[in-house]
Amino acid sequence: MLLQTTDLTIRFGGLAAVKGVNLRVHRGEILGLIGPNGAGKTTLFNLLTGFLKPSSGTIHFEGEEITGWAPSKIAAVGICRTFQLTSVFPALSVWENVRTATYVWTRHRLLGGIRGRAAPVEDSVVEEETNRILAFSGLDANRDSLARNLSYGDQRRLGIAIALAARSRVLLLDEPAAGMNPEEKRGLMQTINDIRSQGVTVVLIEHHMKLVMGVCHRVVVLAQGKVIAEGSPAEVSRNPHVIEAYLGQEVEIA
Ligand SMILES: Nc1ncnc2c1ncn2[C@@H]1O[C@H](COP(=O)(O)OP(=O)(O)OP(=O)(O)O)[C@@H](O)[C@H]1O
Ligand SMILES: [Mg+2]
Repeated sequence: MLLQTTDLTIRFGGLAAVKGVNLRVHRGEILGLIGPNGAGKTTLFNLLTGFLKPSSGTIHFEGEEITGWAPSKIAAVGICRTFQLTSVFPALSVWENVRTATYVWTRHRLLGGIRGRAAPVEDSVVEEETNRILAFSGLDANRDSLARNLSYGDQRRLGIAIALAARSRVLLLDEPAAGMNPEEKRGLMQTINDIRSQGVTVVLIEHHMKLVMGVCHRVVVLAQGKVIAEGSPAEVSRNPHVIEAYLGQEVEIA
C-alpha cells in the first residue's frame, strides 16, 4: 500500500467534511476520486498534503505515519498536488516555474536532507531535469513565456510539470480538465497515462466522467464526506447509491 488513510475525519464547526474515510491508494494505479459538489474531495486532498490537520484518524505513506506533518515535509517525501485553480507563479517564466519546483528535493539534499539524500545537487543536473520535464509536458515552445500569458490548458500542463519537477511519487490532481476543450482533454488523458508510465501514482478528482472512465483503473466515490462506493469505473457508474448521490446535479455519471 502506497498511501492509506484510517478513519480519517475533519470537522469544520458542526460539519464533518470528511467522515471516517478509509482510502487505499495502490502503487502504480490511477485512482479516480469522484462525488457530487461538496462531497469532501478537495478537503481530503488538503488532509493528504498537510494543508489541513484531521480531527481524528491517521494517514500512512509507505507504511510511515505522516499524520500532522507540515505540507513542505509531505511534499518532500513525494506527495504533490495541483490545485483546483492553477498553482503557478504568474510573473515567472515557464522554465523558471519548473526550475523552482525542483527546490522541493534539492533544498532537502543541501540541508543534509531526509531519507539519507545528502549530496549537493549540481545546477547542471537540475537544469537537465527541468529541460526534460518541459519537453515531456509539451511546454518546450513556451519555455520563456510568462506563466500568466499561457492559455488555460497550458497553465494546467505547467501545474503537472511543476509536480513532476518536485519528484512526485503520488500526484494528486484536482479537476485538471476544468476549462479544457475536448482536444485538450484528450491530451490530458494521454499526459496522465504518461505520468503514470514514469512511475508516478495518480489520484484524480474529476467531474468529467469520460475522462474518469478512460483513464482510471479504480474509482472511489465520496458523498457527504463518506466513501459510498468503490470499484472499477463500470461498477461504480451503475451502483444505485452513486446514481442517487448524483441526483439533481448537472454531472452525468453514465
Ligand atoms: N476551510 C473550510 N471551512 C469550513 N468549511 C469547509 C472548509 N473547506 C471545505 N468546507 C466545506 O466542506 C465540504 C466539502 O468541501 P470540498 O471543497 O472538500 O468539496 P468537493 O467534493 O471538493 O466539492 P467540489 O466538487 O464542488 O469541488 C463543503 O460543505 C465545504 O463547504
Ligand atoms: Mg473540490
